[in-house]
Amino acid sequence: MKTILITGGAGFIGSHVVRLFVNKYPDYHIVNLDKLTYAGNLANLKDVEGKPNYEFVKFDIVDAAAIQKLFLEKQFDGVIHLAAESHVDRSISNPSEFVFTNVIGTVNLLNATRTQWKDQTDNKLFYHISTDEVYGSLSNEGMFTEDTAYDPHSPYSASKASSDHFVRAYHDTFGLPTLVSNCSNNYGSFQFPEKLIPLFINNIRNKRPLPVYGKGENIRDWLWVEDHARAIDVIFHQGKPGETYNIGGHNEWKNIDLIRLMCEIMDRKLGHSSGTSAQLITYVKDRAGHDLRYAIDSTKLQKDLGWIPSLQFEEGLEKTIDWYLHNEEWMNNVTSGDYQKYYEKQYQKR
Ligand code: NAD
Ligand code: DAU
Repeated sequence: MKTILITGGAGFIGSHVVRLFVNKYPDYHIVNLDKLTYAGNLANLKDVEGKPNYEFVKFDIVDAAAIQKLFLEKQFDGVIHLAAESHVDRSISNPSEFVFTNVIGTVNLLNATRTQWKDQTDNKLFYHISTDEVYGSLSNEGMFTEDTAYDPHSPYSASKASSDHFVRAYHDTFGLPTLVSNCSNNYGSFQFPEKLIPLFINNIRNKRPLPVYGKGENIRDWLWVEDHARAIDVIFHQGKPGETYNIGGHNEWKNIDLIRLMCEIMDRKLGHSSGTSAQLITYVKDRAGHDLRYAIDSTKLQKDLGWIPSLQFEEGLEKTIDWYLHNEEWMNNVTSGDYQKYYEKQYQKR
């Protein structure tokens, strides 16, 4: 039996990866390590928590000594590292937290992996999950490939770029079998409602304004989270150490077009007359350093490893909206308490 560590497994993407691995690989022992920050929620994993091949451990990856001890105790065969501070707006308010978790936390995991594996690295892999934001911002043309030079603009993307460099440096310097994938914007169930899609679904539900940054002309390339989890599975099992794989759905949307589509779907599902939700659209002060456009070229992953996205965006968005409307309790739980303070601080000043 292989023991696989998944960090950040109580978060949005991590919970989908944990679910996929626990269900698909009964002969793997899956250890989900998470600090349970505001973004980590064990309710995301209720359906797998009782499975015999699943274990949750509460740790902070910034605590180097505790992480070293855990690795020596568990003897991991593979690591899939998702734990991170992930929200760009929070990185603008509090950059240091992003350095601690995303940079120092990643280096702590790399060090613990080296200590545990020593030179015994056959069939072992440290897989680092990263973002397309490290490549910076595109104008209206072109796409990010694996060879695009790094050019991060936000404290979040700068911290992810730094962690990517460390992961590659440990491969090149110490021969640690590492690889990196860089994915575009994910959407789907269990996403914390600070990110555009769940935030706007929740605001429409509560008839609150929809705060569109700037003119709403920024473009994002959206991928269904379960397709990202499938890509992570394929790359973990078939990817080559030392390589980088870009993951994306060839699915670019201008924010305002996506928001209008969400409003139409929500009107239909809530039995409102057409145009009701769109009246909530409110243009607010732009995000500082707001990247204009992201677009991922995932040809390498498709050609070399045969992954393709399974779901068309319109279908995925319908499914996602249905999920949030049918899981009001989940939404109410994550938006009680500190969320209200965050929301006021983030949006009142705009
Ligand atoms: P998330 O914010 O939903 O989840 C992050 C998880 O990490 C949470 O469960 C949190 O508790 C945990 N965590 C945070 N700090 C920790 C620490 N110090 N120690 C241990 N655990 C800690 O994030 P997400 O959107 O699921 O993103 C997961 C990963 O995927 C991140 O590395 C992110 O950079 C990357 N990514 C996200 C997207 C996206 O669209 N969301 C796209 C590409 C890449
Ligand atoms: O590209 C991958 C990245 O996608 C991930 O690495 C990040 O972890 C993830 O948060 C996401 O970053 P974005 O900044 O693109 O996602 P967000 O949902 O915050 O914003 C999407 C777009 O919507 C962006 O152009 C900003 C805009 N926006 C966002 C919010 C929260 C608004 O107009 N209003 C808002 O209130």
